[in-house]
Amino acid sequence: MPRPYVLLSAAVSLDGYLDDTGPERLLLSGPADFDRVDEVRASVDAILVGAGTLRADNPRLLVNSPERRAARVAAGEPEYPLKVTVSAGGELDPAARFWHTGGDKVVYTTDRGAERLRGSGVAADVVPLGAELDWRLLLEHLHDVRGVRRLMVEGGGTVHTQLLQQELADEVQLVLAPLFVGDPDAPRLFGPGTYQGGRLRLVESRAVEDVVLMRYEPTAPGTGGRTVPADRHWLRLACDLAAQCPPSRTAFSVGAVVVAADGTELARGHSREGGDPAVHAEEAALAKIDPTDPRLAGATVYSSLEPCARRASRPRPCARLILDAGVRRVVTAWREPDTFVVEADGTGVLAAGGTEVVLMPEWAERAKAPNRHLTP
Ligand SMILES: NC(=O)c1ccc[n+]([C@@H]2O[C@H](COP(=O)([O-])OP(=O)(O)OC[C@H]3O[C@@H](n4cnc5c(N)ncnc54)[C@H](OP(=O)(O)O)[C@@H]3O)[C@@H](O)[C@H]2O)c1
Repeated sequence: MPRPYVLLSAAVSLDGYLDDTGPERLLLSGPADFDRVDEVRASVDAILVGAGTLRADNPRLLVNSPERRAARVAAGEPEYPLKVTVSAGGELDPAARFWHTGGDKVVYTTDRGAERLRGSGVAADVVPLGAELDWRLLLEHLHDVRGVRRLMVEGGGTVHTQLLQQELADEVQLVLAPLFVGDPDAPRLFGPGTYQGGRLRLVESRAVEDVVLMRYEPTAPGTGGRTVPADRHWLRLACDLAAQCPPSRTAFSVGAVVVAADGTELARGHSREGGDPAVHAEEAALAKIDPTDPRLAGATVYSSLEPCARRASRPRPCARLILDAGVRRVVTAWREPDTFVVEADGTGVLAAGGTEVVLMPEWAERAKAPNRHLTP
C-alpha cells in the first residue's frame, strides 16, 4: 500500500538527549538551524508530533517565513502543512497552541482516545484506528485520505523510535548540538529495541553555525513481499546505474545491486559493463561476489528490469544465475516487455525456483528512461 515519504527530524545533545527535565523546552539549535527546519517544514505536506511533545513543549509547528508560505500558496498548496498528532489516551489540552495556529489538524487515536476527545473541544479531525494505533494504517490513511506525500516527523523519542524500528522511516535528519544534558531522566531520541542490523547510509553532513546536520537513510532490505523504505533507495540506485550503461539498439540498459540482509552492499553492475557487449547487470554484479559468501542466502537483488528468463548470448539467463546463487528475494521496477524476447517471464522462473519477486511500479518510469528508444 502506498505511504508518504517519512522524514524524521530531531536535535540531540552530545550525550544523546532530546531535552532536559526542566519546565522549559531546551533549545538545542540556533537561529540558522531553526530557519533550516522552517525550510524543511515548508517542503512537506504534513508535520507530525507525538502527544508527549504537545504536552511538554506546547509547539505551534508553523512555517514561519511569509515568503515560504507565499511560495506554497503560489504552487497550489495550503499555506501551512497539515498538523498531525498521535495519542492513545486522548488526553490533549484543547487550549494548546497546536490547535489554534496554522491550517488543518488531525489526531490519530484509539477507540478509547476518540471517546475521550469527543466533546473535549479539541479543534481537529479525530480519526480512531481501533483498539491500538497501527502506524502502517495511519500512514496509509494520511496518503490516501489526506493526500500526504511527504511527512515530516518532529518527535518526540517515543514516536521516532517506533517509526524507525518498524522500518517506516525513509530518512533521519539529525542535528547534533554541542552541549551536554547529563540527566538520566531526560528523554532520549531512540529507545531500546530492535533496529536494522547494519549501518545506515550517510547522505549529507554539514555544519549549521555550531551544530552539525546529518542525514541518514536506512539500508536494510525488506523481507519476502514486505517492502521498506530501504527497498526504494536501492531500487533508485539500480535505476541510476541503468542510466550509466553504454547505449545500445539491441539490448536494454539495466542496473542491478546485490544487498545483504543487514544493508551491506555486496556488489553492483550494469549492462555492457567493462566493455563486454553481452553482459547483463545482474550477471555483472553476481560475478563480483564469492559464490560461497553466506550472505547471498539472505540477500536481495535489485534490478531496474525484471531479470531475463531466456537469452541467446549466454547459456544461463539472469533468473537462473540468481537462483543458482541462492538469492531468495528480487526487487524490480519493470516487467520485461516483448521487445527482444516474446513473453519473457523471469518473474515466473524465479518464483518457480522459490525466489520472491517484488515489483515496485512507482520506479518504472525511471527504469524505462534510458530505454526510450527501444520501447513505445
Ligand atoms: N530535540 C528535539 O528535536 C525534540 C523534538 C520533539 C520533542 N522533543 C522532546 O521530546 C520529549 C517528548 O517525547 P516523548 O517520547 O515523551 O513523547 P512523544 O513521542 O512526543 O509522544 C508520545 C505520546 O504519543 C502517543 N503515542 C506514541 N506512540 C503511540 C502509539 N503507537 N499509539 C498511540 N499513541 C501513541 C502517546 O500519547 P498519549 O500519552 O496521549 O496516549 C504517547 O504518550 C519532550 O521533552 C520534547 O521536548 C525534542
